[in-house]
Amino acid sequence: MLRSPRDFFKSKVVGAPEPLREIPVRPARMIHFFDPSNQKMALKVPEIAMNVDIILGNLEDAVSIERKEAAREGLIKIGKTVDFGYTQFWTRVNSLDSPWFLDDLIRLVGEIGDKLDVIMLPKVQGPWDIYFADQLLAQLEAKYGLKKPLMLHAILETALGVSNIDYIANASPRMQGMSLGPADLAASRRMKTTRVGGGHPDYVVRTDPDPKNPDAPRITAQQDLWHYTICKMVDACTSVGALAFYGPFGDIADMIACEDQFRNAYLMGCVGTWTLHPNQIAIAKRVFSPKPEEVAWAKRVVESMPDGSGAVMIDGKMQDDATWKQCKVVLNLANLISSRDPEYKALYGF
Ligand code: GLV
Ligand code: MG
Repeated sequence: MLRSPRDFFKSKVVGAPEPLREIPVRPARMIHFFDPSNQKMALKVPEIAMNVDIILGNLEDAVSIERKEAAREGLIKIGKTVDFGYTQFWTRVNSLDSPWFLDDLIRLVGEIGDKLDVIMLPKVQGPWDIYFADQLLAQLEAKYGLKKPLMLHAILETALGVSNIDYIANASPRMQGMSLGPADLAASRRMKTTRVGGGHPDYVVRTDPDPKNPDAPRITAQQDLWHYTICKMVDACTSVGALAFYGPFGDIADMIACEDQFRNAYLMGCVGTWTLHPNQIAIAKRVFSPKPEEVAWAKRVVESMPDGSGAVMIDGKMQDDATWKQCKVVLNLANLISSRDPEYKALYGF
Protein backbone atom coordinates (compact mmCIF):
# COMPACT_ATOMS: atom_id res chain seq x y z
CA MET A 1 0.00 0.00 0.00
CA LEU A 2 1.25 3.45 -0.88
CA ARG A 3 0.50 6.65 0.92
CA SER A 4 -1.42 9.20 -1.13
CA PRO A 5 0.98 11.71 -2.69
CA ARG A 6 -1.49 14.41 -1.63
CA ASP A 7 -0.63 13.69 2.00
CA PHE A 8 3.10 13.74 1.60
CA PHE A 9 3.43 17.42 2.41
CA LYS A 10 0.84 17.51 5.19
CA SER A 11 2.10 17.48 8.73
CA LYS A 12 1.72 14.07 10.31
CA VAL A 13 0.49 15.39 13.66
CA VAL A 14 -1.93 18.23 14.41
CA GLY A 15 0.14 21.27 15.32
CA ALA A 16 3.43 20.01 13.83
CA PRO A 17 5.07 22.28 11.22
CA GLU A 18 4.40 21.52 7.56
CA PRO A 19 7.10 19.41 5.86
CA LEU A 20 9.66 21.21 3.71
CA ARG A 21 9.13 21.04 -0.05
CA GLU A 22 12.81 21.45 -0.86
CA ILE A 23 15.93 20.54 1.08
CA PRO A 24 17.75 23.82 1.71
CA VAL A 25 21.02 23.89 -0.23
CA ARG A 26 23.73 25.46 1.90
CA PRO A 27 27.48 24.87 1.87
CA ALA A 28 27.97 21.40 3.35
CA ARG A 29 31.58 20.57 2.62
CA MET A 30 32.24 19.03 6.00
CA ILE A 31 30.20 17.61 8.86
CA HIS A 32 32.62 18.00 11.75
CA PHE A 33 32.08 15.49 14.55
CA PHE A 34 32.62 16.23 18.24
CA ASP A 35 31.93 14.29 21.42
CA PRO A 36 29.77 16.44 23.70
CA SER A 37 30.74 14.35 26.74
CA ASN A 38 34.34 15.47 26.32
CA GLN A 39 34.73 18.76 28.22
CA LYS A 40 37.89 19.75 26.37
CA MET A 41 36.26 19.23 22.99
CA ALA A 42 33.03 20.91 24.07
CA LEU A 43 34.91 24.08 25.00
CA LYS A 44 36.36 24.30 21.48
CA VAL A 45 32.96 24.01 19.76
CA PRO A 46 32.27 27.76 19.32
CA GLU A 47 35.67 28.27 17.71
CA ILE A 48 35.49 25.18 15.45
CA ALA A 49 31.92 26.01 14.43
CA MET A 50 33.16 29.27 12.86
CA ASN A 51 35.44 27.28 10.56
CA VAL A 52 33.12 24.52 9.30
CA ASP A 53 29.89 24.29 7.33
CA ILE A 54 28.25 21.77 9.67
CA ILE A 55 29.07 20.88 13.26
CA LEU A 56 27.67 17.65 14.69
CA GLY A 57 27.39 16.50 18.28
CA ASN A 58 27.81 12.74 18.26
CA LEU A 59 25.87 10.62 20.75
CA GLU A 60 26.31 7.21 19.08
CA ASP A 61 29.35 5.00 18.45
CA ALA A 62 32.66 6.26 19.89
CA VAL A 63 30.74 7.55 22.94
CA SER A 64 31.05 4.88 25.62
CA ILE A 65 27.95 3.47 27.33
CA GLU A 66 28.73 5.14 30.65
CA ARG A 67 29.01 8.54 28.92
CA LYS A 68 25.82 8.36 26.82
CA GLU A 69 23.80 10.54 29.17
CA ALA A 70 26.64 12.99 29.79
CA ALA A 71 26.98 13.37 26.00
CA ARG A 72 23.26 14.05 25.59
CA GLU A 73 23.20 16.63 28.40
CA GLY A 74 26.46 18.17 27.18
CA LEU A 75 24.95 18.59 23.72
CA ILE A 76 21.85 20.28 25.16
CA LYS A 77 24.04 22.73 27.06
CA ILE A 78 26.07 23.52 23.94
CA GLY A 79 22.91 23.88 21.84
CA LYS A 80 21.47 26.35 24.34
CA THR A 81 24.55 28.49 24.77
CA VAL A 82 26.43 28.57 21.46
CA ASP A 83 25.46 30.91 18.63
CA PHE A 84 26.18 28.88 15.49
CA GLY A 85 25.63 31.77 13.09
CA TYR A 86 25.45 30.46 9.54
CA THR A 87 26.93 27.06 10.48
CA GLN A 88 24.47 24.18 10.59
CA PHE A 89 24.08 22.35 13.89
CA TRP A 90 23.41 18.60 13.63
CA THR A 91 23.42 15.61 15.92
CA ARG A 92 23.91 11.89 15.45
CA VAL A 93 21.55 10.14 17.87
CA ASN A 94 21.76 6.53 18.98
CA SER A 95 20.22 3.88 16.74
CA LEU A 96 16.55 2.99 16.84
CA ASP A 97 17.24 -0.36 18.47
CA SER A 98 19.29 1.15 21.32
CA PRO A 99 17.92 1.98 24.78
CA TRP A 100 18.90 5.67 24.31
CA PHE A 101 17.12 6.64 21.10
CA LEU A 102 13.78 7.60 22.64
CA ASP A 103 15.29 9.84 25.32
CA ASP A 104 17.76 11.30 22.81
CA LEU A 105 14.86 12.51 20.70
CA ILE A 106 12.60 13.63 23.55
CA ARG A 107 15.36 15.59 25.31
CA LEU A 108 16.93 17.10 22.19
CA VAL A 109 13.72 18.15 20.46
CA GLY A 110 12.28 19.48 23.73
CA GLU A 111 15.36 21.48 24.73
CA ILE A 112 17.15 22.49 21.51
CA GLY A 113 14.77 21.46 18.72
CA ASP A 114 14.71 25.03 17.38
CA LYS A 115 18.51 25.13 17.17
CA LEU A 116 19.05 21.77 15.44
CA ASP A 117 18.90 21.49 11.66
CA VAL A 118 19.35 17.78 11.00
CA ILE A 119 19.18 14.55 12.99
CA MET A 120 21.47 11.83 11.69
CA LEU A 121 20.07 8.34 12.13
CA PRO A 122 22.60 5.53 12.27
CA LYS A 123 22.15 1.95 11.04
CA VAL A 124 19.01 2.65 9.01
CA GLN A 125 17.70 -0.63 7.60
CA GLY A 126 14.66 0.36 5.58
CA PRO A 127 11.89 2.92 5.13
CA TRP A 128 10.16 1.67 8.28
CA ASP A 129 12.93 3.26 10.36
CA ILE A 130 12.32 6.60 8.66
CA TYR A 131 8.51 6.33 9.05
CA PHE A 132 8.95 5.74 12.76
CA ALA A 133 11.40 8.62 13.29
CA ASP A 134 9.25 10.88 11.10
CA GLN A 135 6.08 10.24 13.10
CA LEU A 136 7.82 10.54 16.45
CA LEU A 137 9.46 13.82 15.40
CA ALA A 138 6.09 15.20 14.30
CA GLN A 139 4.67 14.30 17.74
CA LEU A 140 7.54 16.06 19.49
CA GLU A 141 7.50 19.09 17.19
CA ALA A 142 3.78 19.55 17.95
CA LYS A 143 4.28 19.02 21.68
CA TYR A 144 7.12 21.54 21.90
CA GLY A 145 5.66 24.03 19.43
CA LEU A 146 8.51 23.94 16.89
CA LYS A 147 8.09 26.25 13.91
CA LYS A 148 10.30 24.47 11.38
CA PRO A 149 10.53 20.73 10.77
CA LEU A 150 13.67 18.84 11.67
CA MET A 151 15.36 17.01 8.81
CA LEU A 152 16.62 13.43 8.81
CA HIS A 153 19.90 12.09 7.46
CA ALA A 154 20.44 8.33 7.16
CA ILE A 155 23.80 6.62 7.52
CA LEU A 156 24.20 3.91 4.92
CA GLU A 157 25.87 1.28 7.02
CA THR A 158 23.93 -1.95 6.86
CA ALA A 159 23.63 -4.37 3.94
CA LEU A 160 19.85 -4.19 4.24
CA GLY A 161 19.97 -0.40 4.22
CA VAL A 162 21.95 -0.45 0.97
CA SER A 163 19.40 -2.89 -0.53
CA ASN A 164 16.55 -0.60 0.50
CA ILE A 165 18.26 2.66 -0.38
CA ASP A 166 15.63 4.03 -2.79
CA TYR A 167 12.80 3.32 -0.36
CA ILE A 168 14.75 5.07 2.39
CA ALA A 169 15.39 8.12 0.20
CA ASN A 170 11.69 8.34 -0.66
CA ALA A 171 10.36 7.61 2.83
CA SER A 172 9.77 11.19 4.00
CA PRO A 173 10.14 14.80 2.87
CA ARG A 174 12.39 15.14 5.92
CA MET A 175 15.13 13.17 4.12
CA GLN A 176 17.97 15.68 3.86
CA GLY A 177 20.59 13.20 2.72
CA MET A 178 22.74 10.20 3.44
CA SER A 179 26.32 9.39 4.38
CA LEU A 180 28.40 6.35 3.69
CA GLY A 181 29.17 4.48 6.93
CA PRO A 182 32.05 2.29 5.78
CA ALA A 183 32.98 0.85 9.18
CA ASP A 184 29.60 -0.57 10.16
CA LEU A 185 28.80 -1.41 6.55
CA ALA A 186 31.96 -3.50 6.24
CA ALA A 187 30.99 -5.46 9.35
CA SER A 188 27.39 -5.88 8.24
CA ARG A 189 28.44 -7.19 4.82
CA ARG A 190 31.17 -9.53 6.14
CA MET A 191 33.81 -7.56 4.28
CA LYS A 192 37.26 -8.45 5.65
CA THR A 193 38.60 -4.94 6.14
CA THR A 194 39.45 -3.84 9.66
CA ARG A 195 39.58 -0.08 9.12
CA VAL A 196 37.31 2.97 8.85
CA GLY A 197 36.84 3.92 5.20
CA GLY A 198 39.53 4.22 2.56
CA GLY A 199 41.11 1.60 0.34
CA HIS A 200 42.69 -1.77 1.01
CA PRO A 201 46.02 -2.88 -0.50
CA ASP A 202 44.68 -6.36 -1.30
CA TYR A 203 41.71 -5.16 -3.37
CA VAL A 204 43.37 -5.01 -6.78
CA VAL A 205 43.19 -5.98 -10.44
CA ARG A 206 46.29 -7.33 -12.15
CA THR A 207 47.51 -7.22 -15.75
CA ASP A 208 47.71 -10.48 -17.75
CA PRO A 209 51.02 -12.38 -17.71
CA ASP A 210 53.40 -11.50 -20.53
CA PRO A 211 53.50 -14.71 -22.71
CA LYS A 212 57.13 -14.01 -23.57
CA ASN A 213 58.10 -13.44 -19.98
CA PRO A 214 55.54 -15.20 -17.76
CA ASP A 215 57.54 -14.73 -14.56
CA ALA A 216 57.86 -10.96 -14.94
CA PRO A 217 56.12 -8.93 -12.25
CA ARG A 218 52.61 -7.91 -13.27
CA ILE A 219 51.29 -4.46 -12.58
CA THR A 220 48.36 -4.20 -10.18
CA ALA A 221 46.04 -1.28 -9.55
CA GLN A 222 44.19 -0.88 -6.28
CA GLN A 223 40.43 -0.50 -6.72
CA ASP A 224 37.98 1.53 -4.66
CA LEU A 225 35.96 -0.66 -2.27
CA TRP A 226 33.32 2.05 -1.86
CA HIS A 227 32.68 2.93 -5.47
CA TYR A 228 29.52 0.84 -5.82
CA THR A 229 27.92 2.09 -2.62
CA ILE A 230 28.73 5.73 -3.32
CA CYS A 231 27.18 5.48 -6.80
CA LYS A 232 24.00 4.00 -5.37
CA MET A 233 23.86 6.66 -2.69
CA VAL A 234 24.40 9.56 -5.10
CA ASP A 235 21.62 8.34 -7.41
CA ALA A 236 19.19 7.60 -4.57
CA CYS A 237 19.78 11.01 -2.98
CA THR A 238 19.92 13.25 -6.00
CA SER A 239 16.81 11.67 -7.51
CA VAL A 240 14.79 12.97 -4.52
CA GLY A 241 16.57 16.31 -4.11
CA ALA A 242 18.62 15.10 -1.14
CA LEU A 243 22.38 15.30 -0.66
CA ALA A 244 25.04 12.58 -0.54
CA PHE A 245 28.11 12.65 1.71
CA TYR A 246 31.24 10.56 2.14
CA GLY A 247 31.57 9.35 5.73
CA PRO A 248 34.47 8.87 8.13
CA PHE A 249 38.09 8.36 7.10
CA GLY A 250 39.72 6.82 10.14
CA ASP A 251 43.43 7.04 9.35
CA ILE A 252 43.85 10.60 10.57
CA ALA A 253 47.61 10.60 9.89
CA ASP A 254 47.20 9.61 6.23
CA MET A 255 46.12 12.93 4.82
CA ILE A 256 47.00 12.00 1.24
CA ALA A 257 44.78 8.92 1.05
CA CYS A 258 42.07 10.86 2.87
CA GLU A 259 42.20 13.57 0.23
CA ASP A 260 41.96 10.94 -2.54
CA GLN A 261 38.86 9.34 -1.02
CA PHE A 262 37.23 12.73 -0.50
CA ARG A 263 38.03 13.79 -4.06
CA ASN A 264 36.57 10.62 -5.59
CA ALA A 265 33.38 11.25 -3.63
CA TYR A 266 33.32 14.91 -4.74
CA LEU A 267 33.75 13.95 -8.40
CA MET A 268 31.06 11.29 -8.11
CA GLY A 269 28.47 13.80 -6.82
CA CYS A 270 28.84 13.98 -3.05
CA VAL A 271 28.55 17.48 -1.57
CA GLY A 272 30.72 16.89 1.49
CA THR A 273 32.21 14.48 3.99
CA TRP A 274 32.59 13.83 7.68
CA THR A 275 35.65 15.26 9.37
CA LEU A 276 36.83 13.57 12.55
CA HIS A 277 39.92 15.64 13.29
CA PRO A 278 40.76 19.34 12.74
CA ASN A 279 43.38 18.26 10.15
CA GLN A 280 40.64 16.86 7.94
CA ILE A 281 38.71 20.17 7.87
CA ALA A 282 41.23 21.85 5.57
CA ILE A 283 41.27 18.79 3.31
CA ALA A 284 37.48 18.76 3.02
CA LYS A 285 37.40 22.50 2.33
CA ARG A 286 39.97 22.17 -0.43
CA VAL A 287 38.35 19.10 -2.02
CA PHE A 288 34.66 20.01 -1.83
CA SER A 289 35.14 23.58 -3.09
CA PRO A 290 35.60 23.58 -6.87
CA LYS A 291 39.14 24.49 -7.93
CA PRO A 292 39.50 28.11 -9.10
CA GLU A 293 40.67 26.94 -12.53
CA GLU A 294 37.57 24.72 -12.90
CA VAL A 295 35.40 27.68 -11.98
CA ALA A 296 37.15 29.92 -14.50
CA TRP A 297 36.67 27.28 -17.20
CA ALA A 298 33.00 26.80 -16.29
CA LYS A 299 32.50 30.56 -16.50
CA ARG A 300 34.06 30.63 -19.96
CA VAL A 301 31.79 27.86 -21.24
CA VAL A 302 28.64 29.39 -19.78
CA GLU A 303 29.50 32.84 -21.16
CA SER A 304 30.14 31.42 -24.62
CA MET A 305 26.66 29.82 -24.71
CA PRO A 306 24.42 32.51 -23.18
CA ASP A 307 21.15 30.57 -23.49
CA GLY A 308 22.72 27.18 -22.82
CA SER A 309 21.95 25.72 -26.24
CA GLY A 310 23.80 24.87 -29.43
CA ALA A 311 27.40 23.77 -29.79
CA VAL A 312 30.70 25.65 -29.65
CA MET A 313 34.36 24.64 -29.71
CA ILE A 314 36.54 25.95 -26.88
CA ASP A 315 40.26 25.07 -26.91
CA GLY A 316 39.47 22.21 -29.28
CA LYS A 317 36.78 20.70 -27.02
CA MET A 318 33.14 20.39 -28.03
CA GLN A 319 30.66 22.08 -25.71
CA ASP A 320 26.89 21.71 -25.90
CA ASP A 321 23.78 21.91 -23.73
CA ALA A 322 25.02 19.06 -21.52
CA THR A 323 28.50 20.45 -20.83
CA TRP A 324 26.80 23.81 -20.18
CA LYS A 325 24.72 22.10 -17.48
CA GLN A 326 27.82 20.53 -15.92
CA CYS A 327 29.49 23.92 -15.88
CA LYS A 328 26.41 25.39 -14.21
CA VAL A 329 26.72 22.79 -11.44
CA VAL A 330 30.29 23.92 -10.79
CA LEU A 331 29.41 27.62 -11.00
CA ASN A 332 26.37 27.30 -8.75
CA LEU A 333 28.48 25.49 -6.16
CA ALA A 334 31.21 28.14 -6.40
CA ASN A 335 28.58 30.88 -5.92
CA LEU A 336 27.10 29.09 -2.94
CA ILE A 337 30.49 28.68 -1.31
CA SER A 338 31.51 32.30 -2.01
CA SER A 339 28.33 33.53 -0.37
CA ARG A 340 29.64 32.07 2.86
CA ASP A 341 33.41 31.86 2.57
CA PRO A 342 35.31 35.11 1.84
CA GLU A 343 38.53 33.15 1.19
CA TYR A 344 36.91 31.30 -1.72
CA LYS A 345 35.05 34.40 -2.92
CA ALA A 346 38.47 36.03 -3.39
CA LEU A 347 39.96 32.89 -4.99
CA TYR A 348 37.14 32.75 -7.53
CA GLY A 349 37.27 36.51 -8.16
CA PHE A 350 33.49 36.82 -7.54
C1 GLV B 1 30.10 5.28 10.57
O1 GLV B 1 29.29 5.37 11.44
C2 GLV B 1 30.61 4.04 10.12
O2 GLV B 1 30.18 3.02 10.67
O3 GLV B 1 31.47 4.05 9.22
MG1 MG C 1 28.70 3.47 12.17
